[in-house]
Amino acid sequence: MQCTKERKTRRSCLKGLIAGAAAGAMMALPTAEAAAEKIKLGIMLPYSGTYAQLGEMITEGIQLAIKENGDRLGGKEVEYVILDSEADAGRAVRNAQQLVSGENVDVLIGPVHSGVAMGMLRVAHETGVPFIIPNAGLSAATGELCAPNIFRTSFTMWQTSYPMAAVAKDLGYDEVVTMSWRYGAGTDALEAFREGFEEVGGTIVQEMYVPFPEVEFQAQLTEIASIDPDAVFVFFAGGGAVKFVQDYAAAGLKDSVPLLGAGFLTDGTLHAQGEAAEGILTTQHYADALDNAANNHFRAAFEEEYGRAPDVYAVQGYDTGLLLVEAAAKVDGELSGRDAFFEALRTAKIESPRGEWSFSKAQHPIQNIYLREVRGGRNEVVDIAAEALADPARGCEMAD
Ligand code: PHB
Repeated sequence: MQCTKERKTRRSCLKGLIAGAAAGAMMALPTAEAAAEKIKLGIMLPYSGTYAQLGEMITEGIQLAIKENGDRLGGKEVEYVILDSEADAGRAVRNAQQLVSGENVDVLIGPVHSGVAMGMLRVAHETGVPFIIPNAGLSAATGELCAPNIFRTSFTMWQTSYPMAAVAKDLGYDEVVTMSWRYGAGTDALEAFREGFEEVGGTIVQEMYVPFPEVEFQAQLTEIASIDPDAVFVFFAGGGAVKFVQDYAAAGLKDSVPLLGAGFLTDGTLHAQGEAAEGILTTQHYADALDNAANNHFRAAFEEEYGRAPDVYAVQGYDTGLLLVEAAAKVDGELSGRDAFFEALRTAKIESPRGEWSFSKAQHPIQNIYLREVRGGRNEVVDIAAEALADPARGCEMAD
């Protein structure tokens, strides 16, 4: 569904509407040059459901980076066309087509959900539109489905799950239960953890799935208690991560079976999770407490602009904005010369709050993966679990 008036309680959606309305008036101008003076960004993210907050944070991050560049890209005015994906994979193709063919956006940006990404990837392949993924972690996007017009500014489930396996083994955990939602991101996460854990001689004693976006975990928690493994590794995010961590503690498992996760388990969720999250170890490409100049600037600027603390999703949005600022400047705002624009994107160096990163040949960030522990309601950095880690990009011909 397109960002509509019913959604005006969503701040970022409203901002997009305002920008869209102003630009809509300009689009009524008859000349083609008038339209070419603007850059149109098509943003397709969830603003409802379990991933709503993630979508808002990414949107606000994108808009902050562009605002810091005078609300311009390559000297041109920016129009946002914002569409609520509702994290609904079934509508993804139609929604993406609406942005690309209906709205004629210059760049397609989204989504959060890996299933929605499959639909957007199809449209990106069919149309060749510049496509930037600011979250969805499915391997395929920069693996077998990689293409010159497809870029990702976030992570893969492999990058955020595989490194935790060696950490778990080093902590003396030999038998682990894994659990997630059954969809692309969940299966990728559990497979990556399994790959790493079996490489170091660990055993996955049970792999459990619940349908997305279900948050009824009781049956699995009872089973975990009866298996009594050395640890549990999960991928959950957003509202589902809040509920899982609370239920895990309420089931009495928190002090008997250590809970490990891909970092999303405790990102943007700690306030709601409270005491139940203390001590959870996660691996992630960012931590709030990273002490570098870009992160210090970003956190202060985001708080100032939106009155709330940013999280990893806001960072991914901000980096997407920084990428667009840098690449659009290199081509003087001429995004329609696709080869030059792709080259400008591909060679960008992002001074990110997560630390500087650049793209692999598969057009995905090579980045540090941090080991974090929740202490006093914060994800503290305990170690670097993997330095300058590139995704294996299996099946991506550009990466060979
Ligand atoms: C995904 O579906 O790829 C996904 C969703 C939420 C996250 C991470 C990955 O926090």
